[in-house]
Amino acid sequence: MTHFAQQLAHTLGRAFADLGLPAELGLVTRAQKPEFGHFQCNGAMAGAKAAGRNPRDIATALAEHLSKDPMIARCDVAGPGFLNITVSDAALVAHAEALAVDPRVGAQILETPRRVIVDYAGPNVAKSMHVGHLRATIIGDSIKRLYRFRGDQVWGDAHFGDWGFQMGLLIASLAEEQPELPYFDAGFSGPYPAHSPVSLADLERIYPAAAALAKTDVAARDRARKATAELQAGRPGYRALWQHFVAVSRSALEREFAALGVTFDLWLGESDADPLIPEMIADLDAKGLLQDDQGARVVFVHDKLVPKKDGGEGPNVAPLLVVSSEGSAMYGTTDLATILDRVRRFQAELIIYCVDQRQAEHFETVFRAADKAGYLQREALDHIGFGTMNGPDGKPFKTREGGVLKLHDLITMVREKAQAKIDEAGVGQDWPAEERADIAHKVGMAALKFADLQNFRGTSYIFDLDRFLSFEGKTGPYLLYAAVRIKSILRKADEAGIGPGPIANLEPAERDLILTLDGFEHALRGAYDKRAPHILADHAYALAGAFSAFYTACPILSAGDEATRASRLTLAKATLNQLVLTLDLLGIEAPERM
Ligand code: ARG
Repeated sequence: MTHFAQQLAHTLGRAFADLGLPAELGLVTRAQKPEFGHFQCNGAMAGAKAAGRNPRDIATALAEHLSKDPMIARCDVAGPGFLNITVSDAALVAHAEALAVDPRVGAQILETPRRVIVDYAGPNVAKSMHVGHLRATIIGDSIKRLYRFRGDQVWGDAHFGDWGFQMGLLIASLAEEQPELPYFDAGFSGPYPAHSPVSLADLERIYPAAAALAKTDVAARDRARKATAELQAGRPGYRALWQHFVAVSRSALEREFAALGVTFDLWLGESDADPLIPEMIADLDAKGLLQDDQGARVVFVHDKLVPKKDGGEGPNVAPLLVVSSEGSAMYGTTDLATILDRVRRFQAELIIYCVDQRQAEHFETVFRAADKAGYLQREALDHIGFGTMNGPDGKPFKTREGGVLKLHDLITMVREKAQAKIDEAGVGQDWPAEERADIAHKVGMAALKFADLQNFRGTSYIFDLDRFLSFEGKTGPYLLYAAVRIKSILRKADEAGIGPGPIANLEPAERDLILTLDGFEHALRGAYDKRAPHILADHAYALAGAFSAFYTACPILSAGDEATRASRLTLAKATLNQLVLTLDLLGIEAPERM
């Protein structure tokens, strides 16, 4: 179904064309203030300027044209040539009824869906996730949900960091610690034990120690390098051991993602791109793109390959290091090969990387190289960076001891605090403990996710759990409360035998609610085009606010007559459906009651 702004733009576009002016001038936006009507169009001024005509004359002619349309109650010319448009009650009613029976509550489907990969979270073997992974995970998850909801074919990929020098460090260090393990015996002919010789706790202990040692101890570094090379060359014992590292890490990571309500369609790792590297290097070489640079092999990408949208040139970036002077493939090599893999395996038409803003230059380099090599065009590759979650001091969030907070500890902390708030508010004292724990978890996750997603992703924000968990203001718990309140109204209506019915007799708050519901598609498009979930967060908040104003002005169950009760119930149901959909796109789930 089309939304009002679209319909009006269409009608106005024709009116502009009748006046010999471009139809695009019919662009319409929601009015800023209620006294300006529901929508406004500023096209008359731009059209008049270009054609050397009087803007008020044009606006008056347009208003006359529009006043014949049954959808429009009134259309006024204001100031130098603004058009203020008020939609008729008949149109609002018809629209609300259509929304109420639409399972997508007004959301349209893309005409030309694409094949999209969303690369997000980016966890690593042997490292538990910390707060820094939170934004990459929840922003990426929301983008994936949004793109899929709009109709694209989407694969969310964790792009597991399971390759490279880190793996060599683990192997070499374990070989020092437990040389008797069969994985280190080059003569061993298998089979290797099915049970992992290390737990996640072991990996988390070994890795930082090994990384620190390799910084100062040349011999240790050389052992790790050698192990990396042998692993990559396919030494059976190392491969078998590495598979244990991967499996142990992955199952722990998946538990954490599950707590966040985040899943992936693909758990491809950096290692999956590895087999493509030799052939890719040969290809880059054959295309004349590889150059020697102090013993390393690089692709220069600082040329004016990427004109920016504003007409300028993209920034200068460092060359892509494909093969280091020691002969190994690098982080960027893997990313380039991964692009090739994604194009071949999934025919990817768009790849969105949801990774910390600090990796912007890395991606710019890789994307330019991919474009130069003809793997995927620069426009089909997008790094959507984000700012950091900061502590009260404005610096990236740290624990009280000054360390990095583990994601697991953060989730526990948020859940406990949510439970305390709920207890304090006396929510469901006689409900089953299991349900109360589930509510606390949902409230906590809603608080955490909404606090993050409501900011434009590029902005950093301060972690303030008390504010995030407040039931008032622009918070996750407030939105859950709004959804739960409607659920409870619907349950009570059901018990009282009141059912939804045709919409009748609009009050001002009802008009406003319908117009807010109508804004869903606009919000979806904005969030999609800008790859910015905060636009959806804004919509959810506006919808909850419009419902609250409606409910204050228009009681539902206690309304005087049956027709009014039924009409308002229809609006409440449509609101709940759209609110639940919007929250779902943010990865937020509301409980049944709270
Ligand atoms: N594992 C990487 C890190 O911890 C993030 C991966 C991001 N994605 C990518 N395609 N490079 O920094």
